[in-house]
Amino acid sequence: MKKSLFSKPLISYIIGIFLIIFATGAVISQLTSEYIILFSVLIIEFIVLIIMLLHVFEKYVKPIKAATKTVDKLVKGNYRARIHHPEIGSVGELSRKINILARNLSELSFQEEMQEKQLVTVIDNTQSGLVLIDEKGYVHLVNRKFISMFGKNPRDYVGYLYYDVLENERIHQTVQQTFLYEKTVKTSITQTKELEKKYIEIVGAPIFNEKKMLKGAVLVFYDITELKKLEIMRKDFVANVSHELKTPITSIKGFAETLLDGAAKEQETREKFLAIIFEESKRLNLLIDDLLTLSKLEKDEFRLHVTEVNAAELLRDIIPMFKQRAENKQIQLSVNVEQGLSMKVDADRFKQVIINLLANAISYTPEHGEITVTMDETDQSIHVSVADTGIGIPQDALPRIFERFYRVDKTRSRNTGGTGLGLAIVKHIMEVHGGKITVDSELNKGTTFHVYFPKA
Ligand SMILES: Nc1ncnc2c1ncn2[C@@H]1O[C@H](COP(=O)(O)OP(=O)(O)OP(=O)(O)O)[C@@H](O)[C@H]1O
Ligand SMILES: [Mg+2]
Repeated sequence: MKKSLFSKPLISYIIGIFLIIFATGAVISQLTSEYIILFSVLIIEFIVLIIMLLHVFEKYVKPIKAATKTVDKLVKGNYRARIHHPEIGSVGELSRKINILARNLSELSFQEEMQEKQLVTVIDNTQSGLVLIDEKGYVHLVNRKFISMFGKNPRDYVGYLYYDVLENERIHQTVQQTFLYEKTVKTSITQTKELEKKYIEIVGAPIFNEKKMLKGAVLVFYDITELKKLEIMRKDFVANVSHELKTPITSIKGFAETLLDGAAKEQETREKFLAIIFEESKRLNLLIDDLLTLSKLEKDEFRLHVTEVNAAELLRDIIPMFKQRAENKQIQLSVNVEQGLSMKVDADRFKQVIINLLANAISYTPEHGEITVTMDETDQSIHVSVADTGIGIPQDALPRIFERFYRVDKTRSRNTGGTGLGLAIVKHIMEVHGGKITVDSELNKGTTFHVYFPKA
């Protein structure tokens, strides 16, 4: 304020006034004393008027000009504009209020920016694909997940009509039905990507404004491949179980009927048929036991009974069960165990793993073969391997042998009494222990299974 009193216009005004006074001095000296007085009064009044005008200019016109400039900047969206050195009095009040308004606007715009950023982050990080379409059918937004599902990049979608850029006919129908019925519409599509089949569920939801008028639609894309796979697995499982149960039951029923029809009278036939019925019912029993074991392992509330055990002792309990079967096929069964190995496992489950692997080794190794069980420790785990010199497993079947009911040679393994659940159970037990199982095999040379139980 003080500085502005000596501002250039003011100084030039004052100089101007003095020049007028000097210039008129000569005239004044020629005039009478009454004129001199009158003239002096006029000059003084003129000076006072000039000073008053300058005061009005400094106090009102200049601040209002500054305020107008600041408001202009605010209107243009520069919310950082402020009025500096505000006056006191009513114009000062106005400037201060404009400054407060500017501060509020800047705060609001900051919050809006933050919210927009948060919204974009949420939209981009949702695990479902999103597409926003306006009422004219133009795409306004696609999120990152959508791009990862359908490829290309946002620029190829945003600003275009949905039917020009979204390729699937089903998606078009979903959009059309959402607009037509103004209700949520659901469909699903399949997509083949790098030989892998993907299942995608599409939900179209209409968007209304506050007057309940349709303003567009949002499409949500869920990847339901995992769910579908589970559903397919469940269906396959039910079909497989039914099939596996049907075979022995049909056989039991057939032989029982034949016996009832009179075959029971001949002792030899009767004994033969009864033996078959007995074998088949054993198979049924085995199958049901395996299914129960699997379902127990799969239960959420399943708990392992982990205790510290001596690994060599556990093996010592199991081997005798197989001695006889090995001798029958003249298979040499040898055991290499590091002494003094102790581990923390569920002893019963551990035994089941070794039993299933040994049973396979004996079943799938021809006469005069060899089976070797070894046990040693690595840094983090106890390692058990069961190696045989048997028929081996073809490479393309290796990834599938842990599937339920999968058998390389259906008829052959059924003859050995197998249900195809043994390795599925082993894999499950290893998973609940946090361990792992691997297999090496060469056709007609032999197979080695390795299991690793974590020490901790
Ligand atoms: N040591 C092995 N040598 C060769 N093939 C094997 C061996 N172990 C498993 N297989 C193959 O893997 C398949 C699946 O084995 P799995 O133990 O799960 O079922 P299974 O032996 O047929 O029946 P079970 O449920 O009675 O064990 C077998 O049918 C067999 O084809
Ligand atoms: Mg088996």
